[in-house]
Amino acid sequence: MNRVFEIQEKILDKIAEFESADIQRDITLSWERIHLASCAAVGRILALKRGADPELSAIACSVHDYGRIITGKQRDHAMAGYEPLKLFLEESGCFTPDEVELLATAAKKHSSKKEVGSPIEEIVKDADVFDCYQYGMPLDREEQRARLKTILEEISH
Ligand SMILES: [Fe+2]
Repeated sequence: MNRVFEIQEKILDKIAEFESADIQRDITLSWERIHLASCAAVGRILALKRGADPELSAIACSVHDYGRIITGKQRDHAMAGYEPLKLFLEESGCFTPDEVELLATAAKKHSSKKEVGSPIEEIVKDADVFDCYQYGMPLDREEQRARLKTILEEISH
């Protein structure tokens, strides 16, 4: 099976487990489901345009909010997800250690929208911003709006 769908199924199972967990959530699990699939689609398009790996990019986008899924908290969720995500990816048996590190690092850094990182990190940040935009979610920070402007120009060509 394609690793994108395999990981998405596993993360959807994880979300389903959290449906019954008694934790206060800043964002609904319904949004997490939509956002992970939709970010993956955007990430794949950006990767194809930029000459990056479309499969790993789509996977990185699918898992980037793992920290918020498991904690329910928006604050510092990128960092909070780093170690648990590495474990989740290792346990999936789908990835080499280098791929696990690459994917977990892209998730860890995705909230640092002002900084410019590796190609896959940039794809996750940009797909995140564009996806929030296309569902009408607020982009409160200047650096998010700056990214959106660039992406809109990029994808219209
Ligand atoms: Fe996030």
